[in-house]
Amino acid sequence: MNILKIGVLASGRGSNFQSIIDAIDGGRLRASIEILITDNPSAFAIERAKKHNIKYLFIDPKAFSTKDEFFEKIGNELKARGVDLVVLAGFMRIVRKPLIDVYRNKIMNIHPAILPSFPGLHGQRQALQYGAKIAGCTVHFVDEGMDTGPIIIQAAVPVFPDDTEDSLSERILKFEHKIYPEAIRLFSEERLEIEGRIVKVKGHPEFSSSIVNPPIEEP
Ligand code: GRF
Repeated sequence: MNILKIGVLASGRGSNFQSIIDAIDGGRLRASIEILITDNPSAFAIERAKKHNIKYLFIDPKAFSTKDEFFEKIGNELKARGVDLVVLAGFMRIVRKPLIDVYRNKIMNIHPAILPSFPGLHGQRQALQYGAKIAGCTVHFVDEGMDTGPIIIQAAVPVFPDDTEDSLSERILKFEHKIYPEAIRLFSEERLEIEGRIVKVKGHPEFSSSIVNPPIEEP
């Protein structure tokens, strides 16, 4: 397969965007980032794009009369650049049909919880408030629902009794930065097979469900 062309959508700090840049630069992922699209002109992700000579585009959602038109515009910009895979990296909007339809099973998202638990905003806070003892993150394909698409990889971390939202988020984020480039790598090697809502990883017999179980960290 030709080198995978990625389009990244981000609204904020962009540390997951950075982890993908680093994986490419470090030779762990064979791909190129064609464009960063943001809905926030002051997103720190833009600084990261500039530093790495990645083209970026601010698309103002307020310039469109409907959300569907906004997402149609994003889809057109991605298609115009030959993007194969759309990567949501802290993109704070629910993706709508006009983009999902043109990139069906070709949009990934990372969520800071073990789905299907704690979808939506503040997955880490939800896990803490619920009293969960295990938290983590999920990379999944995007469908029309909120964090409901087929799961690609998950990583688990422990929740400690003295955790705050910040300490738990930091522990989870380290694993976000590992599993997101890994999921993209599997996609780039055409090793992800979707059957219904089950994602199978080809050539990965030891992980029938491709769940990553990282070793428990010391508190
Ligand atoms: C991450 O926690 C990610 O899981 C969630 O939004 C946050 C984005 O962080 N979807 P960053 O902008 O990638 O640093």
